Amino acid sequence: MRVLLADDEVTIAVTLGDALEEAGFEVVIAADTGAALTALEERDIEIVLTDIRMPGEGGMAVLERSVELQPQRPVIIMTGFAAMEDAARAVSMGAKFYVQKPFPNDSMVALVETYSRLRSLESENESLRERLNSGSEFSEIIGASKVMQEVFDRVRIVAPTDATILIQGESGTGKERIAQAIHNSSRRSQGPFVAISCAALPESLLEAELFGFEKGAFTDARKDRKGRFEMAHGGTIFLDDIDDMPLATQVKLLRVLQERSLERLGSESTREVDIRVLAATKVSLRQLVREGRFREDLFYRINVVPVELPPLRERVGDVPHLVHFLIGRHGGGRDYSLGTATMRALERYPWPGNVRELENAVQRAIALAGASKELSADDMLPRDKRWRGATEVHDEILPLREVLRSREIEHIGRALERTGGHRTQTADALGISRKVLWEKMRDLGIEGPGGAKEAGTKEPDDR
Ligand SMILES: Nc1ncnc2c1ncn2[C@@H]1O[C@H](COP(=O)(O)OP(=O)(O)OP(=O)(O)O)[C@@H](O)[C@H]1O
Ligand SMILES: [Mg+2]
Repeated sequence: MRVLLADDEVTIAVTLGDALEEAGFEVVIAADTGAALTALEERDIEIVLTDIRMPGEGGMAVLERSVELQPQRPVIIMTGFAAMEDAARAVSMGAKFYVQKPFPNDSMVALVETYSRLRSLESENESLRERLNSGSEFSEIIGASKVMQEVFDRVRIVAPTDATILIQGESGTGKERIAQAIHNSSRRSQGPFVAISCAALPESLLEAELFGFEKGAFTDARKDRKGRFEMAHGGTIFLDDIDDMPLATQVKLLRVLQERSLERLGSESTREVDIRVLAATKVSLRQLVREGRFREDLFYRINVVPVELPPLRERVGDVPHLVHFLIGRHGGGRDYSLGTATMRALERYPWPGNVRELENAVQRAIALAGASKELSADDMLPRDKRWRGATEVHDEILPLREVLRSREIEHIGRALERTGGHRTQTADALGISRKVLWEKMRDLGIEGPGGAKEAGTKEPDDR
């Protein structure tokens, strides 16, 4: 496989070039933009590595030309700290990955190897991809917005391969659902799909879960047990909340990824595992790497194909589609409808819990709809006036009473948020008694955030 290495720094060109050649690649070195562009036109290049700042127009021009000629060809950006902003822009222009200099050559070789494997698998999997393009596995995942369409396009291409995929998204954005769809449309679909959350498990338990153990490995190990990696043999393991994985466990995971083998805790014998790894994170792993909370070498192995699921509030256009889809899922065959004002209110609300929150809202509204077939915004949105009022009033002089009322709602709401819903603290901070707070919340229709509710207090009804 032929790699273009465009960089004006001799040390990089030579040392990385050698490392790549040692790994079996044919390397074409270009020391300036012109030479890189010529190579793209005239040579059969399959992977592009380019610096940003170099003589001539620079690496962005190389990227642009490569995308123009062959949109699927992977371009990896290598850049010094000074051009980091360009690097982020490069990714939005179609670069697959950027790496900040200096970097260890072997990480880069591993990255190039992965992309080269991906490229050959991609062509092998043409037929499988045809099947996928007809939509089957992803049809249960709704996303008409451009951002989601881009996610689907990317996922369809890599799903059939064995590539490691990192799915990033806030809570409830559909990470697990996408992971499952990827598995179902891969050639491992007949094998197991094993999901495990790395959050909220202390290190020793997590390792016992992942790697399994031999009888006597620790006090409670009364008999041998297979770990999740072994259970996923022949299939896919989904490492959810990987950002929470302790550093010590990360080292062990890295080894599994590199060698596809492991030892159960307390055991000497090495077992081979044939697994495909998918991982999910709520926060940016790149950021955690910077903070020293996530291993850089593991990051490169995990973040081979990053997939980012945008929060629902950034794809408001999906809300109506999702609502109809979710009514179909939970409506028990009945046909429910929503008024236009209700739909607008749903689009305005920021959905901090994303699709999961919307799904709960639809279920609640269906349950409360009774004989009526009309779903109401009041059943779906928090009590707060901000979200409920179906129409917004502009340019109108409101009665002072109304203005004060909405200021009060906002202010009390914020105070409740600050204290995590603690009524006594909120009342103290506001300089009123708990009874007055309670009455105000009732009268103004305010619902505090969940959490510390105090026993024995009569609360306004939960929704
Ligand atoms: N695009 C979508 N289309 C249809 N349903 C979706 C979509 N996204 C999410 N859902 C539904 O929303 C719920 C939450 O999705 P999922 O569990 O995949 O989210 P998650 O990102 O893994 O959340 P968390 O980080 O909290 O674990 C599921 O019931 C799922 O079916
Ligand atoms: Mg999840």
